[in-house]
Formats: sequence, structure tokens, C-alpha cells
Amino acid sequence: MYLSNAEERALSGEKGTALQLAYRVLVAIGRISDAEKLIPIKWAHVSGVSHLTIGDYGLDFLKKISRSKGAKFRVFTTVNPCGMDVRNWDELKIPTDYAEKQLQINDCYERLGMANSFTCVPFQSYKVPSPGSHIAWAESSAAVYANSILGLMTNRESAVSALASALTGKTVYSDLHITKNRRPQKNIRVSLGNRKRIFGGSLDYGILGYFAGNNVPGVIGFQGLRSAVEIEEAKALSAAIGIIGSSGMFVLRSREKAETLDFSENEYQETFSQLSDAEKGDLIVFGCPQMTIEELYELSRSLQGKKLRKKCVVFCSSKIYDLATSRGYVRPIEASGAIFVRDACADFTPIISSMGASAVETDSCKGAHYMKRVHNVKIALRTTKEIIGANAG
Ligand code: F3S
Repeated sequence: MYLSNAEERALSGEKGTALQLAYRVLVAIGRISDAEKLIPIKWAHVSGVSHLTIGDYGLDFLKKISRSKGAKFRVFTTVNPCGMDVRNWDELKIPTDYAEKQLQINDCYERLGMANSFTCVPFQSYKVPSPGSHIAWAESSAAVYANSILGLMTNRESAVSALASALTGKTVYSDLHITKNRRPQKNIRVSLGNRKRIFGGSLDYGILGYFAGNNVPGVIGFQGLRSAVEIEEAKALSAAIGIIGSSGMFVLRSREKAETLDFSENEYQETFSQLSDAEKGDLIVFGCPQMTIEELYELSRSLQGKKLRKKCVVFCSSKIYDLATSRGYVRPIEASGAIFVRDACADFTPIISSMGASAVETDSCKGAHYMKRVHNVKIALRTTKEIIGANAG
């Protein structure tokens, strides 16, 4: 793989151990993927932030990197949600030992120069570069969304490769960075004409994404979807594709002549039952991926003047929370009894366990997939409207 003189020098350790390690990671990936070179990026998004995902080894690694001489993010860098809200972790009964370690992780990323919000929907809070720009994003739901909806170019990076990209400002020129690799390899034909309820909304798109991600490892082409897909639907579709399988991109209206799989009512119901194993839950969770400003607007409208009869936690970034507060969306949600958790991941947090839930109601397929496994809870998948209708009055 071609390296410039400056890259060779950094790889030899001339510019410090953090940069040397970062180049070693990128060069190793470049060799495995037969890449011809590294390319500059406009944005890195790093995962591996909750202590529940990286543990003590991850924390030690981050401490070493962030304290090494000359280590800093060389490109605009956002980071994934962490494991708790730094402003109310004690009220939510997060164990002190966990909280202390989480604060140390946050401190490492802050030292390195992260943007000031922990989020898995970074495209909601920061200016998105023009289509065709190269980025290196680790959060799978955001990477799939970036490729498919924003026209940005990224591979599905790991926590370590995205960190290496943040430290160098470069990524490996391979796979989805190359235009010819961005064509659908298989199509999914959506034919749900005879349903009682019209196909649409986050839950339906999440189910479709889970089926598609499970069945197509490469770029997915969809056929038969209505022309306008809302941001929240695309976000749910991207998140569910990202959670299962290895696809990093979809095309909403594929014209590619490729092998085609049908997604009809049978496939919908089968996929739904893989994720949903309870009729109702004792805790409601909204915000995996974290809520957008539009979702908070809708939630505030549907909870206006109502009281929830169950515990409910709403996850969003602090930037979106502040914006929602200024627009008056937060007050009706909090008045209903729901609790906001800012800057945290809805799944990789001790909050779900500390609330003692045995079953969770959510509209998120990604949340369903993870919460079952991480917190050993049952899941009742429902639309937001169904959840509010059944639990608020
Ligand atoms: Fe975001 Fe955590 Fe879900 S990072 S997509 S809230 S698993």
C-alpha cells in the first residue's frame, strides 16, 4: 500500500506512540483489504464509549492513548453515547464504581478533542459535509445512514479503526469508499399490500431492516417502498440493518438487476416474532438510536396533558435535549412522568437493570435485539402510538 513520506515517518514512531499505533492499525486494515492508499476524511465518529462495552481493558487503553505525547484528534470527531447521564446518574442508581470509570472514559475523549456531545445520531447535531465526502464512522446505524441517506462515504468502522482515523485524519481507501462498490448486490422486494395497517413508521422500517440485514451481507437494494421515507424511518431501517449482518449501505429504490428476495407479511411476522416475546412490559424505553428533535416533538404532542402509568426512559443527546427544551418539547414529556437520560446509550447502560424491569416496551428493533441480550429482559415491540395509547391517559 502506498504511504506518503509523512505517513511513513508517523508509522516509524517519529511523531509519537499514539500516532504510530493509529497508523499501524490503518496499514494492517489496508493490507487485509488490498487498499492502494489512505485518504483524508472530513469526520470521524468513534464508538466504544460506554464502560459496559469496553470494560477496564478499554479504559486502560484509552488512558494510555489520551496521555501519550502529541495525541489529539486531527479531524472533526464525534463520539458515541456513553453509559450514563453525567447530570443524573446518582438519581438513577448507577453504581458509583461504574460511574467513576465512565467519567474517566469521557475525560479521555475530551482530552483528545471530541465534539461536545455523546450521540449515535451525529448527523442531527452537526453540519453534514457535502455528498461524496469521505468520513470514518464506527456506529453501524449512523454509518449505514450516512452512506444510504446522506450520500457520504464510509465503511462500517470498528471502535479501534475509527479511533485511528480520528488520530490521523485518514482512512483506508477500500470497499464503500469506492463508487463502483456501492451498487446493490441483492434486492428486497417489499410487497405488503394486503395489511390491515399501512406499512410505515419506525417499527415497520426496523423490522424490514432486521430482515434485510440478516439476509444480505453487501449493499441492499429495496424495491416497492413508497417514494418519501421519513428521517425516523430511515434511521430505524439503518439501525436494524447495522445490528445484524455486515451490510453498510442500502439503496431505497434499486433499479439494479440482481437476485431478489421477497419481504411480505410472512417475512414481517417471522422477523417480528424473533424480536418481540412479550405482550407488554413494565418499563418503556424510547431512543435507540437516540431520539431526534422531530421524534421529541411528536412525543411531546402525544404526551401533552397525560400521565404515564409506567416508568419510561427517553434517551437523546444533550445537544438535542437543549434544543428540545428551548422549543418547549421537554416539559410535557417530563410532566407525564418520563425521565430523560442525556448522552447515554439506551442499551449499554446499567439504567435498564437498575430499574428492575423484567420486560421492556419499545418501538426499536435495535433496542429489542440488544436489551434482550445485555439485560436479559423480555421485549414487547410496539409503535410509539400503541405504547402511549396503552400506557398514558
Ligand atoms: Fe445508539 Fe446505543 Fe442504540 S449507541 S443506536 S442507543 S445501541
